[in-house]
Amino acid sequence: MFVVVGVTGGIAAYKAVAVVRAFVQEGHDVHVIPTPDALRFVGTATWEAISRNPVTTSVHDDVARVRHVSLGQSADLVVIAPATANSLAKMTAGLADDLLGTTLLATTAPVVVAPAMHTEMWRHPATQHNIGVLRGRGVHIVGPDDGPLTGGDSGPGRMSEPDVIVAAARDALAGAASAGDVRTDPVGGAEGDLRGLRVVVSAGGTREPIDPVRFLGNRSSGRQGVAIACAAADRGAEVILVAAHLDAEILAAASASPRVRIVRAGTAAELGLAVRDAATEADVVIMAAAVADYRVAEVSDRKLAKEQADGPEISLRLVQTEDILAQLAAGRAPGQTIVGFAAETPADGETLLERGRRKALRKGTDLLAVNRVGWTEGFEAEVNAVLLLDGRGELLAEARGDKRAVADALWDGILTLRGER
Ligand code: CTP
Repeated sequence: MFVVVGVTGGIAAYKAVAVVRAFVQEGHDVHVIPTPDALRFVGTATWEAISRNPVTTSVHDDVARVRHVSLGQSADLVVIAPATANSLAKMTAGLADDLLGTTLLATTAPVVVAPAMHTEMWRHPATQHNIGVLRGRGVHIVGPDDGPLTGGDSGPGRMSEPDVIVAAARDALAGAASAGDVRTDPVGGAEGDLRGLRVVVSAGGTREPIDPVRFLGNRSSGRQGVAIACAAADRGAEVILVAAHLDAEILAAASASPRVRIVRAGTAAELGLAVRDAATEADVVIMAAAVADYRVAEVSDRKLAKEQADGPEISLRLVQTEDILAQLAAGRAPGQTIVGFAAETPADGETLLERGRRKALRKGTDLLAVNRVGWTEGFEAEVNAVLLLDGRGELLAEARGDKRAVADALWDGILTLRGER
């Protein structure tokens, strides 16, 4: 097999030597592409000796053989270890100002990336956003691990151990082979990083009846909730999707996922029953549904008719529905993670964050995704932007992009909180 190992400029480059050696020992034809910065940590001679192949970094080397694209075209597998914050940003943007960049653009092989950086850089919204986008493109992310970092500090950011990276590369190849095309099954099906997790996701908008033909509803299409459910299933979880009203094609997308079981619910009360029932066996519950805060106090058995009204105005008496999310959080089982969404309309970021903070504390969630909504934002849109707040209302990360990228970033945040990454 033709394996390309990209090495970017971080101290963990010395550990990548063991990754290259493992592939060589397995009999693969291994080509190392260090970035110019990586050569400050481990030099060309080491890479050539270990890989037994010539090593270049520039797009201007070996031009006669069109090396800047031929490596990517020939590759059966590309592994980047370590991947710095800068290299992740370059990959996300598709920059091709060195041999590794051109190779990544020229390849259709599975790409496995092992990030390594300081915790602050890993947690930065820009890095988390890039990771979300890359995952959405089908890139396999391994680690980073939690532990001591160069400089004496400690936290998530350590590159995964070489044997873990090599195992992840094997999984990626197996996933690609079984799916025929890795990009339709980005994380290798049941082998993903959510394998073994039982997950409940609610999605869509509830409808509170007024009479047999009318209801009070909202503009939620269910797109974000279904993206969260499908992302979880693609990453190996067993998913129950409690679906309120969803757009038809979005419901169809959810039905196509073999590990998503769909339970339908109409009203807030029905959704509450279904979610609570499913939650008894769940490790993670995500309330992405837009649940009505009020229902009609007296639902009419007959269609309300104008001729029966006293005049040009009528009034509906509304009563509050139960707060499903707050109840779930109050009664959570040990080890269960409760995640909510907050739909907020304020224009400025500070007020948005402050409202989110108050809601996180009020609802008692482990993670709250704060979503700006408005006439043109949030609902029915393809793209989304959320702030992720922890149980104390502190900002953990920011995610932006298509709803699948946001879903993956949310799952990354949940795994970090659960200490499972
Ligand atoms: N939610 C719920 N039960 C309700 C209303 C909302 O479980 N009766 C959940 C939503 O699914 C979402 C979170 O609570 O995860 C926040 O919803 P949001 O509408 O932003 O907040 P509200 O509770 O309605 O608070 P407010 O009206 O004060 O903004």
